[in-house]
Amino acid sequence: MQQQQPKPPLPSDDKRWKLVNATMRRHGYTAHALIETLHSVQDAFGFLDETALRFVAASLDVPLSKVYGVATFYHIFMLKPQGRHTCVVCTGTACYIKGADTLLANIHSRYDINPGDTTADNRLSLLTARCVGACGLAPAVVLNGDVLGKQEIATLVNTLEALD
Ligand code: FES
Repeated sequence: MQQQQPKPPLPSDDKRWKLVNATMRRHGYTAHALIETLHSVQDAFGFLDETALRFVAASLDVPLSKVYGVATFYHIFMLKPQGRHTCVVCTGTACYIKGADTLLANIHSRYDINPGDTTADNRLSLLTARCVGACGLAPAVVLNGDVLGKQEIATLVNTLEALD
């Protein structure tokens, strides 16, 4: 009988890791969950950094080289945010109902970027996520890793404008 490896601890107490972990658990922590798990990391964090890749590799008991291989083979995966700042607008159901599409439309008209785009000056990358685990704070935005809850376009634009 195959011995179950102990699972590594979550990289931090950021709630988004729980979403990633839930994806892996749903698939019994099998290697087949790799692509879906990477999607889940990207949905939650906007990109895949080394911490995430190592965590996924250890959790699924897959060689890190394979995880890097998959992450770099599919162009949909980003290994780093492209702009100096990364704004992830949650478009999960709760946030959608509370106006995530309005936030996106306003960001688009102000900065001329769609999800997945970075402004021409490399200042801001815009991404979307299906749920960042803060539904009670809908509509939620994750700006440079910090969850900002109950966003209205005026406050969000002020925040974005204040970035360097
Ligand atoms: S739907 Fe946006 S945080 Fe859950």
